[in-house]
Amino acid sequence: MPAARAVEPVARPNFHHMQNITISIRGGKPLRGNVAISGAKNATLPELAAVCLSAETIEFLNVPLVEDVKVMHAALGEIGAQGEIGDNSIRVAMPVLRSPLVSLQTARTTRASVLLLGPLLARHGYAKVSFPGGCPIGERKINFHLQGLERMGAEIHAEDEYIVARCRRLKGIEYDFPGKTVTGTENLLMAATLAEGTTVLGNCALEPEVTDLIDLLKEMGADISGSGSETIVVRGQTGLHGASHRVIPDRIEAGTYLIAGCFAGNDIHVLGVEPEHLGSLLEILRGMGADITVSAREFHIKGGKSLAPAEVTTSPYPGFPTDLQAQLTTLLTQASGVSRVRETIFNDRFHHAGELNRLGAEIKIEGDTAVIKGQARLRGAALKTTDLRASAALVLGGLIAEGKTIIQNSYQLFRGYENMPDKLQKLGADIKIIQG
Ligand code: EPU
Repeated sequence: MPAARAVEPVARPNFHHMQNITISIRGGKPLRGNVAISGAKNATLPELAAVCLSAETIEFLNVPLVEDVKVMHAALGEIGAQGEIGDNSIRVAMPVLRSPLVSLQTARTTRASVLLLGPLLARHGYAKVSFPGGCPIGERKINFHLQGLERMGAEIHAEDEYIVARCRRLKGIEYDFPGKTVTGTENLLMAATLAEGTTVLGNCALEPEVTDLIDLLKEMGADISGSGSETIVVRGQTGLHGASHRVIPDRIEAGTYLIAGCFAGNDIHVLGVEPEHLGSLLEILRGMGADITVSAREFHIKGGKSLAPAEVTTSPYPGFPTDLQAQLTTLLTQASGVSRVRETIFNDRFHHAGELNRLGAEIKIEGDTAVIKGQARLRGAALKTTDLRASAALVLGGLIAEGKTIIQNSYQLFRGYENMPDKLQKLGADIKIIQG
């Protein structure tokens, strides 16, 4: 366990330079070679929030230095953390809480700021966090987070655009989540580690990022059993200590390159993956006829086969992830017939469809389902993106399309994909970043 040491206060990065980024792609180039997968954004974000649970230094390895992670790191700095970002690593400690206020600017940039509520309440008894932002992909409630924390003894009210929460020491509870929530599970798990008594959480999210957070919390001295199952038992402690933690590979990034490998002419090795985390995607792609070899930490995909259409429904892990829905939709525009993709997690996550149609795709939205006509001939166009995974879907569209595709507002892509243009260039893509 690394000892706490005084390091520089966390500096607030300047994001303005990112806002006008545009990506330009000339499609139709075959992608070949190796691509290494970064650490998981959605594991790193709650794990950074867990820093608030201890006064000692936490060291993170295999960190994806994407914009959302930098914003979360800056949010820690605002409330008193000291630390440094290295080469895919972060060392950070919060010896004392300087301010319980997480600013509007920070919270609007990443939804993950809501994850600070549980840890701040648990260790400091007070938190003021703006209502969370993040991708505009439909209604994104946090009522289960708040209900759970209230049951643990917190008093919570809204003050302007902030959630203000106070408590004496949180108390252990039995709580069954009324619906599956990833960050809700993470928030209550973290809160429970320092609560008085035992907390039993039922109907917990099973996502690998939740399990990775539990691994970190245990490394910090938390007493948790039932990891990887729907019922998790946390015996509260009076304090947690420092730790050194390696973040799991990003299954959504790996899935995105796996999908890219299925395009005609491509031949890609995706390295540093955890194949078990992508069972649902592998089943769908193989069902379509994709040629994929899986070994311990690697996928090898050869494109070029004619792909059958698919019927897909998003669902909580281990089901097919909503975070790969847009990217798979791009691939399905190339299948040999009509596919249907039903989105059950978020109620407005089809922004990519209209933009893919500008490239020549034929996608119709019928309620919660995208109906995708296959064998579309995509041609380059100017596109605009509104959210992270839609951006990735448009980049994939640009790689298939003949001619030049321009994607404006590409800041979104960098919120969650580390060095995607560089990684694609190394595979042979003609892709450039243009600063607006
Ligand atoms: N929900 C409620 N009440 C709650 C919490 C959630 O009704 O208190 C509903 C939501 O409205 C939504 C559904 O439950 O319809 C699922 O929401 P969940 O809470 O699971 O989503 P999240 O925790 O806000 C995380 C990821 C998302 C990912 C979803 C689903 C992080 C930081 N974010 O969000 O990632 O799409 O789980 O897997 O972990 C992304 O990376 O692009 C991204 C959006």
